[in-house]
Amino acid sequence: MTNDHEANPLRDSRDRRLNRIAGPSALVFFGVTGDLAKKKLLPAVYDLMNRGLLPPSFGLVGFGRREWSDDDFRAYVRESVQAHARTPFNEEVWSQFAQGMRFVVGAFDDDAAYDQLKATLAELDERGAQHNHAFYLSIPPKAFEQVLSKLAEHNLASRNEDAHLGWRRVVIEKPFGHNLESARELNSIVEKVFPSDAVFRIDHYLGKETVQNILAMRFSNQMFEPLWNANYVDHVQITMAEDIGIGSRAGYYDGVGAARDVIQNHLLQLLALTAMEEPLSLDSKHLREEKAKVLEAVRIKNLQESFALGQYAAGYQGGEHVNGFFDEKDIPADSRTETFAALKLFIDNRRWDGVPFYLRAGKRLGRRVTEIAVVFKKSSDRLFGRDEGDTAHQNAIVIRVQPDEGMTIRFAAKVPGTQMEIRDVNMDFGYGHSFTEESPEAYERLILDVLLGEPPLFPRHEEVELSWKILDPFEEYWEENTIKPEPYESGSWGPRSAHEMLERDDRAWRRP
Ligand code: BG6
Repeated sequence: MTNDHEANPLRDSRDRRLNRIAGPSALVFFGVTGDLAKKKLLPAVYDLMNRGLLPPSFGLVGFGRREWSDDDFRAYVRESVQAHARTPFNEEVWSQFAQGMRFVVGAFDDDAAYDQLKATLAELDERGAQHNHAFYLSIPPKAFEQVLSKLAEHNLASRNEDAHLGWRRVVIEKPFGHNLESARELNSIVEKVFPSDAVFRIDHYLGKETVQNILAMRFSNQMFEPLWNANYVDHVQITMAEDIGIGSRAGYYDGVGAARDVIQNHLLQLLALTAMEEPLSLDSKHLREEKAKVLEAVRIKNLQESFALGQYAAGYQGGEHVNGFFDEKDIPADSRTETFAALKLFIDNRRWDGVPFYLRAGKRLGRRVTEIAVVFKKSSDRLFGRDEGDTAHQNAIVIRVQPDEGMTIRFAAKVPGTQMEIRDVNMDFGYGHSFTEESPEAYERLILDVLLGEPPLFPRHEEVELSWKILDPFEEYWEENTIKPEPYESGSWGPRSAHEMLERDDRAWRRP
């Protein structure tokens, strides 16, 4: 299936401002009782309905082992929506939404349940879904193969004979494997059942407004691009700090760690968007091509000195005492899983020649913040020499991804008074101040794009592979050398070794 948008890269850009409304369709959730579905996915679907972006006949199917009736499922969705939706609860919208809800009871290997799913979808098609079905797999990776092969066996997937009646799409939540090899295996399993243009891999960071704004900021302005290169940029810091710990997610997190959990996907995508060349158009093919070129050009120099790993120890956050990683439920005493990782990478092309990209991600850090800081070379001291102990005036452009969405430009200015004293000041753009519309949640945008069949915000398999190629050498080194992460106090900014990594380069992490 080709997408009209892909076929016409020069289409009128005014199209992009029209409200995009999903056509007749049904969405089936596997893993509907999980945390992600409850807190993010179901509320996002409701928000779309509430914003008038889904058709009235929209079908929502839950598939799971709980012995639920359709009404039990409705009650569960209602609770999740009331607790977590972004838009206000509206009884009228809810009642229409609830009419299209069904629950199918069964385990992932239960043939009778897939027959039941087929009958349920047929009924929803009559009701108005018109044979357009998306399957959302928010399930552990080990269950992917089973669910996909059952969908195929039961003629529910797109390679099946009646698929021409409508579209079939599959949505896959990360992690896409745990290294290059397993990602390739997973992909071959998925693509046996769904053709590549029907596969939507979720990296929810790409659904965030502020992440999409990176492209707008870079390529719709004249003033940044001339500076965006090794002639002016000293280095780039990408930070994803969380104040939460791993909570009850030991089952998923232990053995995965910060690098696989968020650097392989979210942070490398941020790096790609920050460093890529201007794409030919905003269509998926061109966007993905440029991102892939950057990821392909990433290099590690001197691996042993290009990382830091940490594990949070007990401490205080917001005045409250919090557990250390080893006090969390189900974490074995000898776990080497990192809850903090920092990497230093280079991009081997002319634009970024010699510019380090420092990435860090961690749990239980000082506060929740994700930002990209492009730090410029030091200004000349010729006219405004510094006193000893002064920090150099280094301009920076900081893209604040969350939570205080916006952008800061840092530059030097004269302090009022009789002396020529120079100090750094900030100029701020905040979404909340400049726009009246509230930003939609990432999942609203992404689920809508799946239903519309628009792929630009979904990483292609090649990008996933390239990202593993960047991470695998680190993971292998840590494994072969049984590297033990260094403890850091909860509420701090990570282990000592992360600071040392930058000090060696005569630089320092920003304090967000
Ligand atoms: C997920 C990770 O992808 O992103 C989680 O698996 C992390 O560990 C979450 O907490 C953070 O997302 P956000 O949107 O709150 O930054």
